Amino acid sequence: MHSNAFFLGKGGVGKTTVSAAFALSLARSGKKVLVASLDPAHNLGDVYGVKLFDKPVPVEPNLDALEVDLAAWVERYLEESRSELKATYSYAGTMNLDSFFDIMKYSPGTEEYAVLWAIEHIHCELSAGYDVVVFDTPPTALSLRFLAMPAISNLWVAELTKLRERILQRRTSITRVNPESAVAASCVDKADDKVYGRLGSIRKRLTVLSDLFSNESYVAVVINPDHLSVSEALRIKEELEKIDIPLSGLCVNKRGVSRAAWTMDHRLSKIRSFDFDFLPGGLHEREDLRTIDTKDLVADFLAAGRKGRK
Ligand SMILES: Nc1ncnc2c1ncn2[C@@H]1O[C@H](COP(=O)(O)OP(=O)(O)O)[C@@H](O)[C@H]1O
Ligand SMILES: [Mg+2]
Repeated sequence: MHSNAFFLGKGGVGKTTVSAAFALSLARSGKKVLVASLDPAHNLGDVYGVKLFDKPVPVEPNLDALEVDLAAWVERYLEESRSELKATYSYAGTMNLDSFFDIMKYSPGTEEYAVLWAIEHIHCELSAGYDVVVFDTPPTALSLRFLAMPAISNLWVAELTKLRERILQRRTSITRVNPESAVAASCVDKADDKVYGRLGSIRKRLTVLSDLFSNESYVAVVINPDHLSVSEALRIKEELEKIDIPLSGLCVNKRGVSRAAWTMDHRLSKIRSFDFDFLPGGLHEREDLRTIDTKDLVADFLAAGRKGRK
């Protein structure tokens, strides 16, 4: 069942515009919809003409929206890691963890995890109140990294779990040989081992997210009639294939924006595509979104959800 939609693509192609128009049309057709902007440079609120926050704000009947406060999620993630490390490792208290966490804020992966836990929060805590959740995504590079994060992290967690099992086995052997050993005082059983337990719960959380991306989401790429956005769409398609996330739709936005020749790459031709004309007058208020005709896109989303297409 698809109850989530993600619109990916190059900056400026119209991800926010198409997400907002798609969500509006779904809401006006009677579905209860939440739109969540994951872009650190939010403009979803401007598109709807409503001030948005980190929590759902009503835009109109059946339609709520929020703008994820990524900086707050980074802080939350660091705080969680800090207290977890202190609780799990007794010797952590003797290390200077604070300076480590100060730099962790800037280390690779932190932003991706923050987006991931924000999506988890929306999925686990908020989505039950809605029929559909639409995600307006950040630029391609960050989007591809957070979408790949569950698959990549699960590989790590699987290896760490094996390592932890070996450590516990060694402890058991040592304890058997020498029950007086200091090791006997430490944990030898998987069921009691905090680290082993933590790895298991991280694995569960990551599996929920990878399932969300691969099986419960309609993932579409927005392009414009130009070579650069088509190349980027191809890259997105190839990267998503590697992590088992099928691409459901292709939105060709701003058709007719220029007279420059362009061709659709044949590798994208099998994906169902939806055309949206360039509006020379631009989009200024919520009702202008109706000129982005998402009827066919909405129908495809609903049909894909019913079929439970993988
Ligand atoms: N079909 C369209 N016709 C005219 N202007 C458009 C159209 N789609 C998007 N725009 C404009 O293009 C700009 C970028 O759109 P936006 O949705 O913010 O892109 P993205 O979220 O991909 O960065 C905005 O000013 C938006 O109003
Ligand atoms: Mg945007």
